[in-house]
Amino acid sequence: MSIFQLLYTSTAQSDSSKAELDSILEAAQRNNAKANVTGFLIFDGVNFIQLLEGAERDVRRIYQTILEDKRHTSVEPLLQESKAARSLSNWAMAYTQIDKDGLRQSGGSMNASYALELASMLKQNATPMRLIISEFLSAAFAKSK
Ligand SMILES: Cc1cc2nc3c(=O)[nH]c(=O)nc-3n(C[C@H](O)[C@H](O)[C@H](O)COP(=O)(O)O)c2cc1C
Repeated sequence: MSIFQLLYTSTAQSDSSKAELDSILEAAQRNNAKANVTGFLIFDGVNFIQLLEGAERDVRRIYQTILEDKRHTSVEPLLQESKAARSLSNWAMAYTQIDKDGLRQSGGSMNASYALELASMLKQNATPMRLIISEFLSAAFAKSK
């Protein structure tokens, strides 16, 4: 079965609370596990970047609920494509928050080596947008070393 991959960015509502972020992550982990959808969610205090990987109909269904969520705006898909296999195998919905002091993790298994794996994946068949995301990840996670 081929894997559908969707990467998007969005902007958090400025009044997003810690409780709201926890509830987003809780729903993501619960629903995505049932649908065997994996990936990660990165939040830098302003913007989200999320990768969803799984069966196309499941990824699209989850993305539709995300699109309608009022806790963020300006949802913009950056990559949508079918692949033979998951690019980031064996990840649950890892969650990472990057703040100005570097990297802070909560409830997830995201770490710098995963981010750099993604950064290098995005550089393959690079488009200008992929390079921007790749540079973003490399820079953000380089700070955590
Ligand atoms: C940035 C962001 C990322 C989200 N990611 C997911 C996700 O990966 N999976 C998911 O089911 N819901 C995600 N949500 C939450 C959904 O929009 C929605 O609130 C949730 O799916 C409702 O689930 P429930 O009815 O089971 O509580 C996300 C919301 C935001 C704002």
